Amino acid sequence: MKKLLIITAILTTTLFGAKPVEIDERFKDSSKCKTCHMHIVKEWEQSWHSKSHYENNEYFNATTDYVSKKTRKSLSGVQVQCAMCHNPRISVTSTDIEHEILAVMGFDKDSEVEKALQSDAISEGINCVVCHNIGAIHSDKDETVRGINRIEWTKSGVMVGPYDDANSPYHKVEHRDYMDTDPNKLCFVCHANDRSVSDFVFVDMQKEYANSDKLCVDCHMGSKKQGVAATLRIDNGKTRAREVRGHTFPGAHTDSMWEGALDLKVEQKKKEVYVSIINPNPHNIPSGFGSREIIAEFVFKNGYEVLETKSISLTTHYKDKRGKATIPHLAVSSSENLSVPANGKRVLKAPTQMGADRVEVTLYFRLVNDEIHSLLDLSQPIWSQKFFITSKSISLR
Ligand code: HEC
Ligand code: HEC
Ligand code: HEC
Ligand code: HEC
Ligand code: HEC
Repeated sequence: MKKLLIITAILTTTLFGAKPVEIDERFKDSSKCKTCHMHIVKEWEQSWHSKSHYENNEYFNATTDYVSKKTRKSLSGVQVQCAMCHNPRISVTSTDIEHEILAVMGFDKDSEVEKALQSDAISEGINCVVCHNIGAIHSDKDETVRGINRIEWTKSGVMVGPYDDANSPYHKVEHRDYMDTDPNKLCFVCHANDRSVSDFVFVDMQKEYANSDKLCVDCHMGSKKQGVAATLRIDNGKTRAREVRGHTFPGAHTDSMWEGALDLKVEQKKKEVYVSIINPNPHNIPSGFGSREIIAEFVFKNGYEVLETKSISLTTHYKDKRGKATIPHLAVSSSENLSVPANGKRVLKAPTQMGADRVEVTLYFRLVNDEIHSLLDLSQPIWSQKFFITSKSISLR
């Protein structure tokens, strides 16, 4: 009998992926961790993981609206689909045709789906009880299976972490390799195989990741430092010293991460200026999401006088079924990928300017290119902000 039960359990998990597990009130949100992990909660609050909810990220919200409008699927149906990675503690993991009918008729207000979407269990996006309640990662599953379908949750109240000798009076603890020696596996649960509604893969960080002695966490959580994991005095009235990392997860929305992220080499060859953009990082840049943009600006000068300004955009454009410009999530095809390859370089060239004795080349990054910015009609300044990367100037002959 016991054997039979185990076999059915395995079958259901492999067929349907992770089952939602209800989280006890005591662990539901980050405020419950503050008494003992205040410093971590404060850091995480600054991260974009904490903004991954349709109410907290204008770009994400506008994208779900756009997908819903263009595919004629209910907005709630689309939100449930995206929740797979963006709001993984959601209690409803798929919607059916019945839900679509109710939604069209406006009878879905009290539905389980609406309740799940409005629940405060998902309002913090990717919070503590997402990463620290992942009990197993099924890396053997098909590469298209991501987010909640790639993992199993721990029982509520069991925190998985990097230490194998921790104990806490508030919750159970368990050690996992993907919190310690193999954390890339955790990141690839969601940061991989981003696909459109037509199954067009627009970014795959796992595929492009070049073998490196650096882990994702080395750059996006910082190197290990001496500190404490918990501020509770658990060692004879003292806190326990630990090697820790940061939880702000700085990335593409953070100025300081862009400064120096790429290197530049500028040379003149005959009547042309050659610019090599060098990427010392183990994934492409830009990467992570579609329609990000690197801008190379050339300023030709004679003394202090600016003679000419040129700019070259490195971005990807997407097309829908009818061949019209669209967002990555509705794409069936894209223009050539112009991002700078992992541990590689991309060379641009521009003709020199008559009369110029100097050229100044500056690299910037933008989160959203002009095409997507206008399709989605975004209004917050961050989406069009130019983040400075690096600059170099040479004299011309
Ligand atoms: C995106 C995933 C992710 C989220 C979200 C996250 N953590 Fe972590 N956390 C990690 C990883 C990975 C480590 C292991 C870092 C290492 O030591 O290499 C870690 C380490 C820790 C540690 C051990 C000490 C340390 O700082 O290294 C504690 C305690 C912890 N996290 C608590 C929290 C709390 C509380 C929250 C919510 C405010 C949170 N974490 C949110 C991924 C996450
Ligand atoms: C009453 C204090 C207290 C509260 C509240 C608390 N913790 Fe902890 N937690 C601890 C202590 C103590 C440790 C062990 C620290 C050590 O060994 O250095 C710990 C360890 C951890 C670890 C590391 C476990 C490991 O094995 O590596 C994680 C992850 C963690 N807590 C997450 C959380 C999250 C998420 C919350 C909120 C839902 C939370 N904790 C609430 C006291 C607390
Ligand atoms: C449960 C899915 C999930 C997991 C696991 C996860 N992330 Fe994320 N991550 C996201 C989503 C979704 C966003 C985008 C949030 C937003 O912008 O609203 C994000 C954003 C980020 C950003 C910010 C990027 C930017 O553009 O500013 C960084 C950096 C990042 N994640 C690193 C990591 C690392 C490192 C790990 C592994 C330790 C990890 N993530 C694990 C889903 C996840
Ligand atoms: C050697 C350092 C380094 C390592 C290792 C690294 N990254 Fe990055 N990552 C960067 C830099 C630099 C950028 C560009 C500046 C920025 O966005 O912060 C970046 C950008 C990102 C972005 C934002 C991209 C965008 O335009 O939306 C995400 C997401 C990300 N990295 C995730 C990861 C993941 C997941 C891993 C592990 C597979 C990883 N990174 C490993 C340095 C690193
Ligand atoms: C396979 C997991 C996964 C799924 C499913 C997913 N996303 Fe994401 N999404 C991510 C990750 C990871 C990031 C962060 C990448 C980065 O910032 O570089 C992200 C970033 C984004 C961003 C950029 C946010 C920002 O702040 O710049 C938008 C917009 C977005 N997703 C929309 C959607 C929509 C709409 C859906 C559903 C149709 C969806 N995503 C489904 C993983 C996923």
